[in-house]
Amino acid sequence: MGSAAASSLPASAGSGENLVLILDFGSQYTHLITRRVRQLGVLSLCVSGTAPLASLEGLRPRAVVLSGGPHSVHAPGAPSFPKGFLDFVSDAGAHVLGVCYGMQLLVQSLGGAVESGERQEYGKMDIEVTAGCSALYGGEAEVGKRQTVWMSHGDEVVRLPEGFEVVARSVQGAVAAIENREKRFYGLQYHPEVTHSPQGMETLRHFLFDVCGIKADWKMQDVLDEEIKTIQSMVGPDEHVICALSGGVDSTVAATLVHKAIGDRLHCVFVDNGLLRYKERERVMSTFESDLHLPVTCVDASEQFLSKLKGVKDPEQKRKIIGREFIAVFDDFAQKLEQNIGKRPEYLVQGTLYPDVIESCPPPGSGRTHSHTIKSHHNVGGLPKDMKLKLIEPLKLLFKDEVRKLGSILNVPDSFLKRHPFPGPGLAVRVLGDVTEGNALETLRQVDEIFVQAIKDAGLYDIIWQAFAVFLPVQTVGVQGDQRTHSNAVALRAITSEDGMTADWYYFEREFLGDVVNKICNNVRGINRVVQDITSKPPATVEWE
Ligand code: XMP
Repeated sequence: MGSAAASSLPASAGSGENLVLILDFGSQYTHLITRRVRQLGVLSLCVSGTAPLASLEGLRPRAVVLSGGPHSVHAPGAPSFPKGFLDFVSDAGAHVLGVCYGMQLLVQSLGGAVESGERQEYGKMDIEVTAGCSALYGGEAEVGKRQTVWMSHGDEVVRLPEGFEVVARSVQGAVAAIENREKRFYGLQYHPEVTHSPQGMETLRHFLFDVCGIKADWKMQDVLDEEIKTIQSMVGPDEHVICALSGGVDSTVAATLVHKAIGDRLHCVFVDNGLLRYKERERVMSTFESDLHLPVTCVDASEQFLSKLKGVKDPEQKRKIIGREFIAVFDDFAQKLEQNIGKRPEYLVQGTLYPDVIESCPPPGSGRTHSHTIKSHHNVGGLPKDMKLKLIEPLKLLFKDEVRKLGSILNVPDSFLKRHPFPGPGLAVRVLGDVTEGNALETLRQVDEIFVQAIKDAGLYDIIWQAFAVFLPVQTVGVQGDQRTHSNAVALRAITSEDGMTADWYYFEREFLGDVVNKICNNVRGINRVVQDITSKPPATVEWE
């Protein structure tokens, strides 16, 4: 995973005295462990489980969590921590917690035995605390108590390495938790990080604070102070920086932060790429000026983008083209700026978030070298190699909710902080196929506006993570005003999510949906059918392209 995160301790990690490293072995829940630890006020960084030891150099984690993963420890090529890892944690005095696959890996590496289990356990399962002095469960008073946890394992631990004891078993008798307190090794066969393990957070809390003695010192104010210092030391006193504002939370918070660090040597640009939502340009520009007092230049590049997208149907092609055009516009903006201020800007600010970094670095054993096999998030992967500007990515280690907290410390108005995310490639990934065909973009804008406004009116905007419409290049037969129509269909998508990496579809009341569909079909020309997307992520992604 995030090689940037692994190679050195990032500035916003502070002194890193209470750092928790998560070694990723490919579980879909790894990022959740990272988030849960942060929710407890402790900085955690996620790195590849198989990254060479050299990439951890300089880090002195107080705890290392070995994540779950889809493999069996017996499978050929099953991922394992790097050679020398056990000495590394011993030298660092770190405690190690293996979760699911991570526990089995630990057991096998330390001389115990893992076998393909008779008791394959998937889903909810009750476990019972069995040992008196268990550190993970808070001591003797817990013995005999049961809790429900989320299991997901085919293999099971059948022999413990020397010095270990079983501290909890599933009601079916499988080993559920183990400890070797003297050597600082711990293991949970289940996933404490998921909400299906209701007491999992409590167990993580015991592990971090009682077992490891970690202090909860990860605070957004410190992150802000550190980032400002870093930017001030990175950008020379005469150097200038440009930032593309999209009107979303990430770029707005990133720009406000950089503006605080270097003042008017930050030059912001808002690009109208022709792929924006209804009246987006006017709305966003007026808020930048009146609320944020950020100096922003608006560049109308819609012709430039749309002409390059003409005839292009492939989603990855579209994303790449848009990424390239953005950089071309920035380069051009930088050149003009150079003529005005007599100095070429050196840096570009981007609001890249931690999930973008994680998704761009697939886990070991996945067979992928880069998750761009899923999508090129243009703010991470689509940047051309010959880009002339150096990047400043002050939010690179943060999840979305953390960015919102940071924004609120920076006094970014709620109207910005609470906006639903909007993808960099804009409506291009919501008009399937060729975006320039017919009146697709304008039609989509109108449908989207009706849908989102209805959500706001119903007081649902803040509980939905993201809601939008998708234009389908499919014509269906309808009947409107007694006339046969052969028009387009649109899809509505609304999801709940914690960070966009996994998502559930939102369940609307029947009446709400009925009203929205009526409004759309009665007001938007060229639409005679509306469907709702009720797919979670996974298996779908949030955006359709
Ligand atoms: P997916 O479709 O990958 O989306 O499940 C997850 C979240 O990311 C947003 N998204 C993007 N954001 N540039 C962005 O800045 C992109 O290229 C991009 N693609 C998707 C998406 O809207 C959702 O919130």
